[in-house]
Amino acid sequence: MAIIAPSLLSADFLNLQKDCTMLNESHADWFHLDVMDGSFVPNISFGFPVIEQVRKATTKTCDVHLMIVEPGKYAEAFKKAGADILTVHYEVCPHLHRNLQQIKDLGMKAGVALNPHTPVSVLGDVLHDIDLVLIMSVNPGFGGQQFIPHTIDKIRALKHMIKDKGLHTLIEIDGGVTLSNAPAILHAGADVLVAGNTVFSSEDPTATIAALKRM
Ligand code: DX5
Ligand code: ZN
Repeated sequence: MAIIAPSLLSADFLNLQKDCTMLNESHADWFHLDVMDGSFVPNISFGFPVIEQVRKATTKTCDVHLMIVEPGKYAEAFKKAGADILTVHYEVCPHLHRNLQQIKDLGMKAGVALNPHTPVSVLGDVLHDIDLVLIMSVNPGFGGQQFIPHTIDKIRALKHMIKDKGLHTLIEIDGGVTLSNAPAILHAGADVLVAGNTVFSSEDPTATIAALKRM
């Protein structure tokens, strides 16, 4: 069964507690928290104070997706804020192995995110050190964008690499996930579905999460 990770980016920030309670009572597995710095991506979202409050509001896994340059500078602060999984972008990590080691030494699971133009093959020599690969299925920075179809081929290729090496690395898909494309994404080999707009813009977010979970 897929892991469902609703993205708080599309939540109601004036009523965050209400949305956290909704997620707590739903079939959501993880809380997906998108941190943007206005430098790596053309948008700024939220940082430590918001994550600290969300951490207090849930016992579910806090899955923090860093869309920031120099993530190593802040890894410890994200651990303190409450991150369980910390995902950094391949494109900003010239010393990726060191970043992964640091995240794991701090007691978090280590994730690596790939932009749509970054091939999964770049992870070949470091895959055994990664707990989770996040494949961006839109260009990072905004919720509510259209799923890029080529992502399906990337999921398949990555699944092959993981199986070939006898690993259990999770594949997370982030961006443009809907009730219509989720079956194909899972069929290709994804383990975790991030969904922002699909969940929070739906009439009944709890039912939408349940529908994603049933796929
Ligand atoms: C985009 C973020 C996503 C975003 C997904 O840069 O990484 O997590 O919230 O939003 P939807 O599901 O609306 O595409
Ligand atoms: Zn994300």
